[in-house]
Amino acid sequence: MIQLIRGFKDILPGEVELWQEIERVSRDLFENFGFREIRIPIMEKTDLFARSIGEHTDIVEKEMYTFPDRKGDLITLRPEATASVVRAYVQHKMYAADPVRKFYTIGPMFRRERPQKGRYRQFYQINAEVIGVDSPYIDAQLIFLLATLLDRLKVTDVAAHINSLGCPECRPAFRKALSGLLDAKKAQLCADCNRRSSTNPLRVLDCKVPGCREAMAEAPSLLDYLCDGCRAHFDSVQQSLKRLGVPFVIDKQLVRGLDYYTRTTFEIQTGALGAQSAVAGGGRYDGLVKMLDGPNTPAIGFAIGFDRLAEIVGLRQADFEKAPQLFIAALGDASAEKAFDWICRLGLEGVTAEMDMAGRSLKSQMKQADRSGAGFVLILGESELASGTAIMRNMRTRAQTDVALDDRIIDRILAHIRPYSN
Ligand code: HAM
Repeated sequence: MIQLIRGFKDILPGEVELWQEIERVSRDLFENFGFREIRIPIMEKTDLFARSIGEHTDIVEKEMYTFPDRKGDLITLRPEATASVVRAYVQHKMYAADPVRKFYTIGPMFRRERPQKGRYRQFYQINAEVIGVDSPYIDAQLIFLLATLLDRLKVTDVAAHINSLGCPECRPAFRKALSGLLDAKKAQLCADCNRRSSTNPLRVLDCKVPGCREAMAEAPSLLDYLCDGCRAHFDSVQQSLKRLGVPFVIDKQLVRGLDYYTRTTFEIQTGALGAQSAVAGGGRYDGLVKMLDGPNTPAIGFAIGFDRLAEIVGLRQADFEKAPQLFIAALGDASAEKAFDWICRLGLEGVTAEMDMAGRSLKSQMKQADRSGAGFVLILGESELASGTAIMRNMRTRAQTDVALDDRIIDRILAHIRPYSN
């Protein structure tokens, strides 16, 4: 038997209803706040991700699914959505008509990480991106949106962590201080981090190797190096969050795993998923639009890990169980023919109706109806056809009613079923 690829998964009926509900609630919220959907391709030129996420990040160095297409051009299955959203903004000159754009996008991402609970090689993200707004109001609004979404989905046991990563003005001084420490701790750092010390020192703060974590415990904090502009911006974000009643903690360790971040960064963390504590992450990326050859434009966004979210929402699958509203138990060819016409017509009326198509006995059809969870069963045999009356059984109450089999039969069935539909 051919099985699916390691780290990939199917989302089967029975589970998918919960995903649909999460998607519905997310779309509603984003649309209410003026976001418009954007759909971007699953594959892009490798350069797009290498430039945006950063050559010396784990994602670009180790985790991308990159391969040459038949002409030899390098293409990559997208590991995230932000780079593509910005590419689209620049490529279609969306800034020309109005530089301020709010996007959301939902779809699969691909990273070749070691699979474990909450970590997959194909996973899904719900992204929100605002391009063209510098104001700290929008930072607070995005975190507020995340908190609201989690609340609507009845997620508990989560905390918003926030930090500021400064800007090109304040970061060099921090980098210098950090490099001093990295030189002193050389012997304690893993091989990757020793390499990163010169290529991308900030990434050492993100390393999960215990020795590196220990060595970085006394690392300087970017918050102590913020320039006046970044400090005022970060203070204002916090004030807005307080006014909006969104609880948060300031987390100096939060550096995020992608290089494009500036100023505000944030993560929603949970204790419910073991090692994979981040349900959502995001931040400002004020330099990215320009880096991708667009005008100098600030931007900020976040991505929620859909798979992780689905594991911790307080909604239960049972709330979305789907069962046919009607099962027609038909005996004999003439009855089956009528039953078939009726289930097709009922489908057009928005009623899910099923029948047996394998010529089973009445007893096994009744079992089948029971198993399907159908709300009503219409029993239609030769004698019912002859008498012009069939029996409709309410499967919850077991009450039975006669239904006249005349040319208003569809209306009669609907009159029975509709009061019980939601
Ligand atoms: P990220 O932190 O790399 O950020 O990913 C965001 C979220 O995606 C994570 O918090 C996690 O919930 C989920 N996630 C990441 N990798 C996996 C995986 N292997 N399996 C399951 N879930 C995973 C970004 O991707 C940025 N583009 C977010 C952003 C948008 N920043 C600004 N705008």
